[in-house]
Amino acid sequence: MCGIVGYVGPGSSLDVLISGLRRLEYRGYDSAGVSVIDPEVGLQTRKRAGKLSVLVEELEKNPIKDAHIGIGHTRWATHGAPTDGNAHPHLGGSHQKLSLIHNGIIENFSELKSELLSLGVKFSSETDTEVAAHLIAREYDASGDLSSAFRSVVNRLHGAFTLLCIHEDHPGVIYAARRNAPLVIGFGEHENFLGSDVAAFVEHTKRAASVGQDQIVELRADSVKVIDFAGNPVEVDEFTVSWDASAASKGGWSSFMAKEIADQPQAVADTLMGRLSSDGSVKLSEFAGLDTLKDVNRIIITACGTAAYAGEVAKYAIEKWAKLPTTVELAHELRYRDPVIDDKTLVVAISQSGETMDTLMAIRYAKERGAKVLSICNTQGATLARESDATIYTHAGPEVAVASTKAFTAQITAGYLVALSLAALRQSMPQPELNELGKELLKLPRAVKEVLESVDRMRELGKELANAKSVLFLGRNTGFPIAMEGALKLKELAYIHAEGFAAGELKHGPIALIEEGQPVIVVVPSQSAPDAIHSKVISNIQEIKARGARVIAIAERGDDEVAKFAHEVFYVPALQPMISAPLSVIPLQVFALELSSAKGLDVDQPRNLAKSVTVE
Ligand code: AGP
Ligand code: GLU
Repeated sequence: MCGIVGYVGPGSSLDVLISGLRRLEYRGYDSAGVSVIDPEVGLQTRKRAGKLSVLVEELEKNPIKDAHIGIGHTRWATHGAPTDGNAHPHLGGSHQKLSLIHNGIIENFSELKSELLSLGVKFSSETDTEVAAHLIAREYDASGDLSSAFRSVVNRLHGAFTLLCIHEDHPGVIYAARRNAPLVIGFGEHENFLGSDVAAFVEHTKRAASVGQDQIVELRADSVKVIDFAGNPVEVDEFTVSWDASAASKGGWSSFMAKEIADQPQAVADTLMGRLSSDGSVKLSEFAGLDTLKDVNRIIITACGTAAYAGEVAKYAIEKWAKLPTTVELAHELRYRDPVIDDKTLVVAISQSGETMDTLMAIRYAKERGAKVLSICNTQGATLARESDATIYTHAGPEVAVASTKAFTAQITAGYLVALSLAALRQSMPQPELNELGKELLKLPRAVKEVLESVDRMRELGKELANAKSVLFLGRNTGFPIAMEGALKLKELAYIHAEGFAAGELKHGPIALIEEGQPVIVVVPSQSAPDAIHSKVISNIQEIKARGARVIAIAERGDDEVAKFAHEVFYVPALQPMISAPLSVIPLQVFALELSSAKGLDVDQPRNLAKSVTVE
């Protein structure tokens, strides 16, 4: 999982590569590197461990002659430490005339490396990638045909790879291949681009096409040719990127995460737009591709991380409204436990990037067993959308910060739309009641905005608790996944121990963790939630307070009861109890952001992480 960018055209390749890498750096930031070819100077490469800024400094100190073709990479290390030597590009051939970058893992690299070592090839890195550079260069040196050398080698590789390759002898062409890792083409005027996603080139062109599985691109300034691994020509489907470059820039905010938290009213509104009428009825035209929906007898929601927590909220809504048995399965667990999946199962895959390898592998497995796949995805042209029977796009716009925020609230919103549509389709509830819920959903963007207007206390709290060793989160019903999401945000951003528990589970063990002064954030259910769960959570608050916990409650406005027991309460607007779920996460996002900033940490690029996990 790394960022890849390629450019060929009349412009400055270094400018395109560096600005593209800047937009892709969220995908990995262990090292960065570029190679360009100037017809007179030949191939020039610079690469450095560390963030992109280190490479930029290196290019200032040690400049290269700008050129009209180049490739750039920002790495998330899988094989070999994040060092200068392991940074991409990797060079190949006796005269080091070939340069190659890679996203993914070449699973058979060890046997290919042994083969190359026995032929006397010297390696200069510990990466899996370098084998591909040497193999292509050697085949080319033998045949003089770069195109066939490239195709022949990619056919020998196993695993996941997007590869971009340039050669000094051919200064007008980039060869690219894609298997199990993302690659998008950008079409310009006498210039063309390649990127891991459209963010790489959106400031230059909005005309894009995603490259399919096992396909090769031959990219020149005036032509783009796509073939499959067998050499047959392939037509690509062009699409227009629906957002512009400013959407993927900080626009005056201190961090992308701060901006993306603030984007949430719009993200939720845009996800509802065109799908929910003012009378509260829902129309998902995307369901048209799923003609068997009526026969479905169960749903498996699959996703990872934050997207899986959004799935948990969707599960509550689907079961309550559409009365369909629904489970949520972490994608990386699903296919390794022989799950019972058949043609009556609907798999709902949720992913911001649409490139999470675990999620892609899970849906492939489910499809092999006859299931239909509906995806909820935020990225146009993503692999997940290509491989699903139908896709509901969350229109949250580009999410750059590694910690997901606006994608989460948009995913929950899309989950509500799916639940309401399924309920209407199955007639599991009277239509007027569904319309009432739909009307309540229309109030969500405004309510999200109100929460954002009143988060100052959560900001202060983030600063106050900057030295906390551990923060616990409790919730019940939809508040449980919200509590887990709050804990995940804190782990990712502030590197402190944080855990989300089901409030009812506390007395079954975790209450032993409570000691004097332990901060516990409790997501309190609405007073109008069914089955007296509100008062049960109030009891839980008393149990932990009695044992010394410092209790911070997130509760619905008007809930005076909770104020009697919690040390302090942060209020959010009151909505129908199911639909209010995403409101409670916003203070938790703000809390994690402020706590991380107070510790002086990089909130957009937390350590050890990358935005899209494109390896299993
Ligand atoms: C969220 O803050 C995380 N960085 C992570 O859990 C993320 O949600 C997960 O990796 C899934 O990503 P996706 O939505 O792109 O599939
Ligand atoms: N496996 C390669 C490496 O470790 C590529 C990783 C990536 O996708 O950034 O360098």
